[in-house]
Amino acid sequence: MARAQINYACQSCGTSYKKWQGKCDGCNEWNSIVEEASITSETPKGLKGKKGRAIELTNLSSKSKPLPRLLSGINEFDRTLGGGLVPSSATLLGGDPGIGKSTLLLQVVGGLAKAGHSCVYISGEEAADQVAMRAERLGLRNTQLMFGAETNVRDILTTLAVKKPPKILVIDSIQTMFVDHIDAAPGTVSQVRSSTSELIRFAKKRGTAVLLVGHVTKDGQIAGPRVMEHMVDTVLYFEGDRGHQFRILRSVKNRFGGTDEIGVYEMTGLGLEEVSNPSSLFLADRTAETTGSAVFAGMEGSRPLLVEIQALVAPSLAANPRRAVVGWDSGRLAMILAVLDSRLSLGLAAADVYLNVAGGLKINEPAADLAVAVALLSSLTQKPFPNKNIAFGEISLSGDIRPVAQAEARLKEAEKLGFTEGLIPNRSKFGTSTLKKNAISKVHDLLNIFDIHDKKTRSEDY
Ligand code: TYD
Ligand code: MG
Repeated sequence: MARAQINYACQSCGTSYKKWQGKCDGCNEWNSIVEEASITSETPKGLKGKKGRAIELTNLSSKSKPLPRLLSGINEFDRTLGGGLVPSSATLLGGDPGIGKSTLLLQVVGGLAKAGHSCVYISGEEAADQVAMRAERLGLRNTQLMFGAETNVRDILTTLAVKKPPKILVIDSIQTMFVDHIDAAPGTVSQVRSSTSELIRFAKKRGTAVLLVGHVTKDGQIAGPRVMEHMVDTVLYFEGDRGHQFRILRSVKNRFGGTDEIGVYEMTGLGLEEVSNPSSLFLADRTAETTGSAVFAGMEGSRPLLVEIQALVAPSLAANPRRAVVGWDSGRLAMILAVLDSRLSLGLAAADVYLNVAGGLKINEPAADLAVAVALLSSLTQKPFPNKNIAFGEISLSGDIRPVAQAEARLKEAEKLGFTEGLIPNRSKFGTSTLKKNAISKVHDLLNIFDIHDKKTRSEDY
């Protein structure tokens, strides 16, 4: 006998329950459990009786044929995927509402259609007129791109059950799709899960590359089902700050290529434009020498990216000085402040500290430590860090400055953009880079750079 139906599921992680409860044991989320029909769970009974079919086992070494790729012509997108879309694959594109997911995918399928591939774009959110207007604005009027406004997965798959199914299928937002044999609202775990698996089955059977749009919840997960991430081959996130023009496409899972690749775009009046030299975008506004600023030579995946780090150290009147960070980890800032304070006794503990990564970019590399420390000291001493200098390096709790990976690529990018000198950790492997290097090994060496001799006076300022 089948076990009783499980009628409740967490909308955040997909854990199912027999009874309602306020807090999910799976992900500790509150109020995420809702009633859902038809999540049956059968006790496994073993494989009694019937025999199965024998499957063919192959030797992996004999199958080294590279997978064919579909190129959209939008280099930043193709590169993020590891060289283009793979036929029969399922790709999930997540992102905040309004960040530009529909625009990006419309441009991508527009490019693929121009290259002669048959594409179908199904939207559950917008009507044909709306999408047509956008396509016109993006200059995609006369492409062989077919559009449908539909939310029923059965109808979509029936429509596509033709002799020559499209090479690419876009489903604009999986949260609007539903399968009619499940009695639950679109967007719930069971609907999203079933719709996704139906669409993936279609992709594998008919050789179509399926691109699914997924909305992201406030805390950054693809709404509801993390389970979806396990089902698809590739997971891309489209990120950006609504107040800024640039957008970053990041690959977080890729069965056909490396992750940590990014593509950089700028949102313009005519859609998304590729930014082939992102560093110039993030440094565009830098002119005169200012205090409290340092350029960090970072890496995003395999690409070097220069960004400006700004800091402000101000005397505080409050008992608990204020610490505000935009674009970096606040815990990491607290650590750098503690290291600078205890190793150099600068009295930063009593000051308000603000840190900002210019352009709205988010950095999570520890390699930014040194640039952050430089920006902080520059603000504290009111001495500018030279305009044509870059910095990178990890700071350890002992006050050592540690070498970081890919130093050569970082230095070369800086050189390309007209920087002349780099403040880098000792023992960095900088290969053939000819940029002038100022190597340091301890935070103590920063005192010389900012001419801090009289530590006592400094700490008494605050
Ligand atoms: P959209 O692709 O609809 O976002 P999503 O599908 O992720 O919800 O893009 C929404 C925003 O992009 C919208 O606020 C307007 C802006 N936009 C432009 O600035 N230029 C353009 O050419 C287009 C098409 C959109
Ligand atoms: Mg959209």
